[in-house]
Amino acid sequence: MLELDGLTSCTRCELANSRTRVVAGSGPSDPALVVIGEAPGRHEDEGGEPFVGRSGQLLFRLLSEIGLTRERCFVTNVVKCRPPANRTPRPREVAACAPWFDAQLASVGPAPLLVLGATAARAVFGQRLGIGVIHGRVLVAGARRGLATYHPAAALRAGERVVALMREDLATLRTLVDA
Ligand code: URA
Repeated sequence: MLELDGLTSCTRCELANSRTRVVAGSGPSDPALVVIGEAPGRHEDEGGEPFVGRSGQLLFRLLSEIGLTRERCFVTNVVKCRPPANRTPRPREVAACAPWFDAQLASVGPAPLLVLGATAARAVFGQRLGIGVIHGRVLVAGARRGLATYHPAAALRAGERVVALMREDLATLRTLVDA
């Protein structure tokens, strides 16, 4: 678990009032892949680890199909505290968390990025287009390459059609991880 000074007691935004725990992120400092979600959900808020609920189960099942285990991934979110009732994080919450996120990215090795959903894609790649447009395209964030795909929670709601699109995107991602 990566610890950044002050992160676990952060009060930079109002999510500090409702969270149970700050979900900092976890994984090796020299990962094969950096996985970036939106914000913790209920299970993550309780346990302090990102992507441990149903979304995470689907995500890591799909990543295992391209030969990646969770142990080789650094996993985090653009917002480190759970929004009430899992609402979408507000732009000011994403902005308040950005210094933590940037410091985290700077502290892990030069692995490609897998970004999940439109909110995280906007924060990481500055993309304003919908995830239906940008998913699977190789994009650049600073010195790193990566791509955005659908959030696994959206795939759980929408079903096999979206899971199939995620599989296609992860096949492209695989070419970056191998490079
Ligand atoms: N959804 C996210 O975006 N992140 C998590 O950690 C869990 C669910």
